[in-house]
Amino acid sequence: MPVITEIEDLKRLYRRRVPRMFYDYTESGSWSEQTFRENSWDFDRIRLRQRIAVDMANRTTKTKMIGEDVSMPVALAPVGLTGMQSADGEIKAARAAETFGVPFTLSTMSICSIEDVAEHTTRPFWFQVYTLKDDDFMRRLFDRARAAKCSALVITVDLQVLGQRHKDIVNGLSAPPKLTTTSIANMMTKVPWGLEMLRTKRRFFGNIVGHAKGVSDPSSLASWTAEAFDPSLDWNRIAKFKEMWGGKVILKGVLDVEDAKKAAEVGADAIVVSNHGGRQLDGALSSIRMLEPILQAVGDKVEVHLDSGIRSGQDVLKAMAMGARGTWIGRAYVYGLGAMGEAGVTRALEVIHKELDTTMALCGHRDVEEVDRDILLVPKGFSGDWA
Ligand code: GLV
Repeated sequence: MPVITEIEDLKRLYRRRVPRMFYDYTESGSWSEQTFRENSWDFDRIRLRQRIAVDMANRTTKTKMIGEDVSMPVALAPVGLTGMQSADGEIKAARAAETFGVPFTLSTMSICSIEDVAEHTTRPFWFQVYTLKDDDFMRRLFDRARAAKCSALVITVDLQVLGQRHKDIVNGLSAPPKLTTTSIANMMTKVPWGLEMLRTKRRFFGNIVGHAKGVSDPSSLASWTAEAFDPSLDWNRIAKFKEMWGGKVILKGVLDVEDAKKAAEVGADAIVVSNHGGRQLDGALSSIRMLEPILQAVGDKVEVHLDSGIRSGQDVLKAMAMGARGTWIGRAYVYGLGAMGEAGVTRALEVIHKELDTTMALCGHRDVEEVDRDILLVPKGFSGDWA
């Protein structure tokens, strides 16, 4: 077993093991990737206050996210094509999350279907949907998610149209991968990955193929988004989806104070302050910079979570200290999955947990629910005075 001390170790292994097309899919931001880079850089700009001679025994990172018990405030975010990073990847990630006691969110664009994941887990998971044009397809998805006992619906609200990720175009990203001389040459260097993939039957978008009508190329994320997504989405339609679902709803992709107020008004149970990991609007501010203004506006009305840029337990602690009630990781667990399958996701969670727990102690706290802004050193004007 390789020695893994930080998430970056998993990323190095992941890069070696998984075909280029899928590594690039994960490791891309849109256009110039400015927002993708700044999501992590801005976490680094925040420093922590070292405290001493404080009782650090009996620490806990346990808390609740949307009323559900979690062993630490870190949910696995919905990530498309996860089952291409490692065979049956969504099942592996969901099982690792379940054992660790954190929420797993299944993407609509997953390879394993809702039913596949439900069959291999016992704890209810969260299900993510995009805002699609076809109400019948949405209704059927909701029915399937309800039948699978999903405990929350995560509606992605920042992807009515797809931000361009150059590498996906160059690589001809698809699931399963199209066989070109370049993709075959690259896959021949990824033998263990390929052998595992040959052993599974799950190589297509499991929630879509055979379920959605009128998609010209069901293997392509780009054609699916262009044809099926609702470019005319508005708040009434979001409210309608909430009603159609009838259970807990998390709106993922809120990055603006006005939008956060609307999200609270439609009665979301939580919002995720997010710029989709820098994959949508290039040039948007990082999520961590937008967290405080959004908290000031709606923090007492709706549970506020954060994603985009979290690669360590220190990042989790910073977001929680600023006032978030939960964080989400995407790339950080995908690196683990691609590197070492289920054990790699577990390792990613262990790494983040240890960093969170020890750093919290060094800041003089024993309970993640009690950390506050007092432990942070935030540069003046961090959230910015933008006009
Ligand atoms: C899909 O949500 C993506 O970011 O690729």
